[in-house]
Amino acid sequence: MCGIVGYVGPQDAVPLLVDGLKRLEYRGYDSGGIALHTSEGIVFRKCVGRLTELERDLDARPVTGRPGIGHTRWATHGEPSVRNSHPHLDGSGRIAVVHNGIIENDQELREQLQAQGHTFLSETDTEVIPHLIEQALKDGAASPEAAIAQALKQARGAYALGILFADQPDTVYAARLGSPLIVGLGADAHFIASDVPAIVHHIDQVIYLNDGEMAVLQPDGVRILDLDGQALTPEVKPVDLAPEAAEMAGFETFMLKEIHEQPRVLRGLLEKHTHKKGHVDLTDLGLSADYLQQLRRIMIVSCGTAYHAAMYGKFLLEHVTGLAVETDLGSEFRYRSPRIEQDTLFVAVSQSGETADTLASLRLARERHCRVLSICNAPGSSLVRESDAVLFTEAGPEIGVASTKAYTAQLMAFALLSMAMGRARGEITSEQEQAWIKALEQVPNAIHYMIERADHIRAIADKHHDGPSALYLGRRFNYPTALEGALKNKEISYQHAEGYAAGEMKHGPIALINEYLPVICICTKTTDEVYEKMVSNMREVEARHGRIIAIATDGDTHVQAFAEDIIYVPPMCEEFSPLVNVVALQLLAYYAAQARGTDIDKPRNLAKSVTVE
Ligand code: F6R
Repeated sequence: MCGIVGYVGPQDAVPLLVDGLKRLEYRGYDSGGIALHTSEGIVFRKCVGRLTELERDLDARPVTGRPGIGHTRWATHGEPSVRNSHPHLDGSGRIAVVHNGIIENDQELREQLQAQGHTFLSETDTEVIPHLIEQALKDGAASPEAAIAQALKQARGAYALGILFADQPDTVYAARLGSPLIVGLGADAHFIASDVPAIVHHIDQVIYLNDGEMAVLQPDGVRILDLDGQALTPEVKPVDLAPEAAEMAGFETFMLKEIHEQPRVLRGLLEKHTHKKGHVDLTDLGLSADYLQQLRRIMIVSCGTAYHAAMYGKFLLEHVTGLAVETDLGSEFRYRSPRIEQDTLFVAVSQSGETADTLASLRLARERHCRVLSICNAPGSSLVRESDAVLFTEAGPEIGVASTKAYTAQLMAFALLSMAMGRARGEITSEQEQAWIKALEQVPNAIHYMIERADHIRAIADKHHDGPSALYLGRRFNYPTALEGALKNKEISYQHAEGYAAGEMKHGPIALINEYLPVICICTKTTDEVYEKMVSNMREVEARHGRIIAIATDGDTHVQAFAEDIIYVPPMCEEFSPLVNVVALQLLAYYAAQARGTDIDKPRNLAKSVTVE
């Protein structure tokens, strides 16, 4: 949830740390800080609020130094305050630590350290780490590495750490367990960071640290060791991310840029897996025909937006493969007694690959001997490393906190997976598969047309944004679209919004409908059955004077009779209509948020990567 960056090299660390932190601010943004080696020992600067506050402080009280570590925080233990923001120091002020994760036994460790005479200044769990290291050195640890290892062997929970010692003026130490951390290698400098985009401009190669590993970064090289001090040979990978991918490229926000990237992302993903004309090729996933024949069940687990993608995946996989498919939220699944066995394929869906509840669910599935397939956007993430196979969504870095392109890429991944599995199980014919691929090929252009209608969508958002609430209704494949539209709206515009299965409306939410409530109805013309039912639901809303905003197919004049506003979308078969319809809802939420003056890329209280329970 927090972001970490560290630098070892010949330049002043301050601008490099601040730039890296700004690129990580999407991970957490209620406070921040840096610590540096200077001629006067370790000096730090901290602030509450956005990093602009830190920059202001650095302008008022300039400092230079190297190496350095920095942190942007999303509070878990203790309110956002200067006292609670990182870096945290030991009692002597000679060890500085930045931390992402949670130390679960911090209370116990704090009491133990207090009994040994340590005094704590913050309410954070992190502060025990520099004190444990200090104590290990007092107890005779032979080196900083040994002291860190001794400290970490006592800590339970998750951490990605950057550590500076006043007595080691050319070294940054790092360690990882359960929270993401990479080491970036540049020409004459080395970095640590929570993700690649934060430092992509400065590095050519990357090491994804594994759990239980420590890194020692010095100007002339990087060593990786385990907590027993054994040297390890890391896998060094080239950086395959263009620096522009982490830039705003002239858009006013990352979210708008990412909405616009969807046609390219989806086209790329589709082309990658359909290069054999007319067939989806997912051979890399190792889902052989024999395996698929003995498969009885699919269990899909994820959180938030990725859960909506999973719901779509369930509808489509059931429709196309004939298998029983279940979905659950990571935070619920991990506390159930799920009936999953070897004949269940467990599918984890996650943009970041670091979501704590999704990861814990995956581990539970592994204990039950299920095969694990992940649909993920982050190479090198924990989810990827712990899965048997991965279908990458290849959306590129998603920096806006509200997920857009990663979501539609997850839907595309499920469309491809369903077709590959359906054909291998003999549930769909080659002709059907070819027809669906043709339909999917229309999706990028259809999204493009949607985006061209942005001005019209903005006008509708301007008209409806100021009410206290909004209701989103959809059916079948577009029921998850309704949930996702409502989530987008509430997370970035802060307008309360609820997504509902349209047929369920009369069982409760109909009571909310009055002449003020915007009701966004997804009624694209697909199968007659669903369309007609949706029209009946809209009539029910109309009868209670709700203000209907219809998402309707181009040329559908019928809805004009009862919708106050209409967002037309290009025609698309029902199975793949969610990939296009959701873009209308992303834009509607975007412009509502803009009209309400919120911070769209960094909505309040949210973090991009939820690495705590
Ligand atoms: C909403 C959003 C979140 C994430 C959720 C899971 O726009 O982005 O709801 O979808 O936190 O995150 P990942 O996909 O990284 O597991």
